[in-house]
Amino acid sequence: METGKRLNGIGEYYFSTKLREIDLMNSAGKKVINLGIGSPDLAPHPDVIRILQDEAAKPGNHGYQSYKGSPVLRGAISDWYRKWYHVTLDPATEILPLLGSKEGIMHICMTYLNPGDRVLVPDPGYPTYISAVKLAGGKPVPYKLNEKNNYEPAFHKLEKKLKKVKLMFVNYPQMPTGKLPSENLFARLVAFAKEHNILVIHDNPYSFILNENPKSILSVEGAKEHVLELNSLSKSHNMAGWRIGMLCGAAERINEVIRFKSNMDSGMFLPLQLAAAKALQLGREWHDELNAIYRGRRDKVFELLDLLQCTYSTDQAGLFIWAAVPAGYKDGYVLSDEILYKANVFITPGGIFGKAGTKYIRVSLCAPVQRFEEAISRISEKLMASPASQSQTIPV
Ligand SMILES: Cc1ncc(COP(=O)(O)O)c(C=O)c1O
Repeated sequence: METGKRLNGIGEYYFSTKLREIDLMNSAGKKVINLGIGSPDLAPHPDVIRILQDEAAKPGNHGYQSYKGSPVLRGAISDWYRKWYHVTLDPATEILPLLGSKEGIMHICMTYLNPGDRVLVPDPGYPTYISAVKLAGGKPVPYKLNEKNNYEPAFHKLEKKLKKVKLMFVNYPQMPTGKLPSENLFARLVAFAKEHNILVIHDNPYSFILNENPKSILSVEGAKEHVLELNSLSKSHNMAGWRIGMLCGAAERINEVIRFKSNMDSGMFLPLQLAAAKALQLGREWHDELNAIYRGRRDKVFELLDLLQCTYSTDQAGLFIWAAVPAGYKDGYVLSDEILYKANVFITPGGIFGKAGTKYIRVSLCAPVQRFEEAISRISEKLMASPASQSQTIPV
């Protein structure tokens, strides 16, 4: 069967292909340590699980739900935004619960793009922005983020790329680079959106991870006119598999997106929504505890990266560490494959996040300290002890 033309140029998502390869290696007995994907390995808070269990046991909780989500969840999201981000959102009109924020990226593209419309996407950045734009018939226009720019858009260069641009995706703390937003970045983005009449979409799933001061672009005065914000419980509350996210912004925008989304799904299972509302009420202790664990893991990742002679910044936020490969390596793919095939450890090559990521790798923090220790010992045994690295001839 011939696939629709909209799939031209859309490959299978990198991780689904790679995970299949890793499964094959595992069935051949290789016991691969997967430090690739950012799926939290820790459990949600026990109270959250209890609510899911209790609510799922009630016979009346199994029907279709409202397209706009339960008022309990929307109320909890509104309170959460006020408490942590100092942003006021009307729970009735300015919040749309999502089945994970990833679907929101697609919904936004389908809602706003016509064939040929252009969308600014970060390079490096989350690959879904590009696929969603293409699937919706738009044209992604990558904008480079690099260390020299502090991983922020070079606004003067963007101005030359604005023909037919309707949307712009941004994401801080940035994935994959771990960059936190600088003091005035969000204000500059809102001003840029206003000046050029584009809708900026801020994707904000990492603001609580290894970061003491979560920020929202919606806290900028007048932002609702020009931006939408996606958020998620996947990383902040260890609920990636539950698929709970949200879209926040002006009531008109939310209604526009609902016109598309209500044709795609039929609401979210009520017990999930009620449990998510509980998760959003957790206090600072929850985040402090999680971050203490991630800091311990991060130290091990630094050790692993030192062993590989990679360079990196130590103040990254989010679930990953982004690191430049040593000069002798052509790119992150070569290093990633070498580590996978020699030491059975999987680390993501930075090139999958865009051209600007080619010389980097990204290590996930979603594994216990012992797994990192095991990875370190495998790498030092299998890579460092090989004749190639003893003679300092690193493959190019
Ligand atoms: C930058 C970014 N945005 C969005 C998502 C999707 O998160 P969710 O689980 O809410 O769909 C991810 C997941 O890895 C991500 O890294």
